[in-house]
Amino acid sequence: MPTVRGRTIRVLFDAETIAARNREMAAEIATAGYRKLLVVPILKGSFVFAADLLRALHDVGLSPEVEFIQLSSYDAQQVSSGHVSLVRDVESDLAGRDVLLVDDILESGRTIAFARDLLARRGARKVAVAVLLEKPGKLAQPLTVDHVGFPCPDVFVVGYGMDAAHAFRGLPFVGVVEERRSRTARAGARGSRARSKDGRSRRGASGSRRESRGRAGYRSRRGS
Ligand code: IMP
Ligand code: MG
Repeated sequence: MPTVRGRTIRVLFDAETIAARNREMAAEIATAGYRKLLVVPILKGSFVFAADLLRALHDVGLSPEVEFIQLSSYDAQQVSSGHVSLVRDVESDLAGRDVLLVDDILESGRTIAFARDLLARRGARKVAVAVLLEKPGKLAQPLTVDHVGFPCPDVFVVGYGMDAAHAFRGLPFVGVVEERRSRTARAGARGSRARSKDGRSRRGASGSRRESRGRAGYRSRRGS
């Protein structure tokens, strides 16, 4: 397993597997009949996927225009906060155009629903969606997307544009940051020794350091 920034990463989707799926998705998109296509990646997490998908689209004969939007949702525990806000809007006139939104990962669907509504209000004729990963069974509301790379296990993934506190975006694969097992185990043993008579840890009522940092031990600003 690769080690990056001192952390072990378990690879879920390697570079070759992603590249092959990108070629298939580009072929799907080419046959979908989009007109006056504008590709709109959602920053920041989709930037690597979008760059590769656009070049795969070129290889199948499509040369769409490209614009970006940036959305954000805030959460320290790597769980969707439910509030999405617009950081950067498109500049083009979308009236009568087919738009292909591109995102890294579909989880609750709030990010995609927000972006789709926004671009529809801007006058797009059709707003289609391509995501690299979809975590099945997590949608907060019914939502259909048009092009999906892979179903993704319900774990926090990094790499290929996706981050944990802005780290790991440059990995050429998608993976999971493994827990620091030995340290966690040591901390657990220390914690149980340190418990006082009322059963509370000496760290205080706010919980352990790990609890306040999320699953991989990184503070995270989600949805970017
Ligand atoms: P949704 O709005 O709940 O569908 O969340 C989608 C957004 O959350 C994506 O655009 C990602 O930026 C982010 N996200 C969801 N799951 C993960 C993950 O496992 N790793 C990194 N980012 C994630
Ligand atoms: Mg995102």
